[in-house]
Amino acid sequence: MRMRNKNRKSTTFRCNAGSRYSFSTIIWSVVGCLVLLHIYALVRHKGGTSGDIQSHYSWHPQFRELEEVEDENFQIPPPRGKRSPRAAKRRPRRSTTIIDEFLDESSQIRHFFFPGQKTAIDPLREGGNNSFYYFPGRIWLDTDGNPIQAHGGGILYDERSRMYYWYGEYKDGPTYHAHKKGPARVDIIGVGCYSSKDLWTWKNEGIVLAAEGTNITHDLHISNVLERPKVIYNEKTGKYVMWMHIDDANYTKASVGVAVSDSPVGPFDYLYSKRPHGFDSRDMTVFKDDDGVAYLVYSSEENSELHIGPLNEEYLDVTDVMSRILVGLHREAPALFKHQGTYYMVTSGCTGWAPNEALAHAAGSILGPWETMGNPCIGGNKIFQHTTFFAQSTFVLPLHGYPGFFIFMADRWNRADLRDSRYVWLPLTVAGAADRPLDYNFGFPLWSRVSIFWHRRWRIPSGWTGMK
Ligand SMILES: *[C@@H]1O[C@H](CO)[C@@H](O)[C@H](O)[C@H]1NC(C)=O
Ligand SMILES: *[C@@H]1O[C@H](CO)[C@@H](O)[C@H](O)[C@H]1NC(C)=O
Ligand SMILES: *[C@@H]1O[C@H](CO)[C@@H](O)[C@H](O)[C@H]1NC(C)=O
Repeated sequence: MRMRNKNRKSTTFRCNAGSRYSFSTIIWSVVGCLVLLHIYALVRHKGGTSGDIQSHYSWHPQFRELEEVEDENFQIPPPRGKRSPRAAKRRPRRSTTIIDEFLDESSQIRHFFFPGQKTAIDPLREGGNNSFYYFPGRIWLDTDGNPIQAHGGGILYDERSRMYYWYGEYKDGPTYHAHKKGPARVDIIGVGCYSSKDLWTWKNEGIVLAAEGTNITHDLHISNVLERPKVIYNEKTGKYVMWMHIDDANYTKASVGVAVSDSPVGPFDYLYSKRPHGFDSRDMTVFKDDDGVAYLVYSSEENSELHIGPLNEEYLDVTDVMSRILVGLHREAPALFKHQGTYYMVTSGCTGWAPNEALAHAAGSILGPWETMGNPCIGGNKIFQHTTFFAQSTFVLPLHGYPGFFIFMADRWNRADLRDSRYVWLPLTVAGAADRPLDYNFGFPLWSRVSIFWHRRWRIPSGWTGMK
């Protein structure tokens, strides 16, 4: 598995190639030997020379398919006389890059990133062969036949109803710029909620936290920003608690908001917003650990670092405990998950609506230290890997019954028409040795590689019990 990916291999040994002179050569040779020895030991330790993933999933052949590398080929179209006025203004004279094409709403290859209505996934009409298949980037319809509106979202598995609930930004309104230099935005409409038993057929449960239409001082006034809502269930209080990023149109409020409900399908009562621990807070997520303690993770200090800290028992506020992590790395869009006692996180860089490279991080203790393992994306092609498949992380969902197998959820933002942003769901596995065990020290952490595999079309293996 590791050997299949040329790009990643070169990342691992990049340092070797760069140091040609004697002292550093010796140092790096020693380090290289240690790494190889360690990886060898790790592979042996984790069971078998065929590698961890294979042994881990050998009981389920369909997982192998999900780890096969699928390539994508496309060409940047030749320069044209006419580009959209906005695109032309942005980049007056420069050869076009694929990211320019992605951001250019009149690009000739726009259908490649944002396929049209004709290829929409319609679970109610999708007969036979495409049943339960995800098609990352295509329009995805709910059971009413409307495109799902749950951007920047997350999923709650509700033990009581045995249902999955997908919460996200309901953005079905016009995209505009509040002022000349303002970012593309849609007025707050609210938080959309969809329910499903199979993670493929989604019923619209309506807007469970709605915008405020008239009171201009209210956090949820339509002119403000509500992003990345996430819901967790509190066993002690029996309440569903929603955390979200609350901001003004210029992103200067930089706060988190909290809302609660007795039911997963709302309505949620909005409680308040604050700057957690006194710090600015933009992209965020919440994570509920096995022991019932929940954590808030947020980008802070102008997105230069992340902060993480436990919530109080009711999940309604943060506590005094907070840890600064990934300091100076400028990461956002955190998605946190856990496997075999180790915490993992996928983050994106900070480039607004434009896609960038994802990184995976790991920690033995949730408050850190966190170490960066490298880019988890595999397949597609180099550009796909360097743009997180033209998408940005939002959530990682564990699949009950398949330890080590997760669904990576990301948003392919359509900056020109944010309501038409697409969902990129892909299989994510935690297995095999990490690429870069030496980033911060000479210790050899035992955590595993996080891999996200590109697929044009894929499904959860059919034996999955959650389907029933
Ligand atoms: C489903 O796949 C089979 C085998 O590949 C093919 O013969 C059949 O025409 C397909 N059916 C549909 C509805 O696409
Ligand atoms: C408007 O919202 C603010 C902040 O939530 C609140 O304090 C105030 O009472 C609201 N005003 C009205 C008229 O509802
Ligand atoms: C946002 O910034 C613009 C330009 O600096 C300013 O005109 C506008 O009043 C600001 N809006 C808010 C809500 O702060």
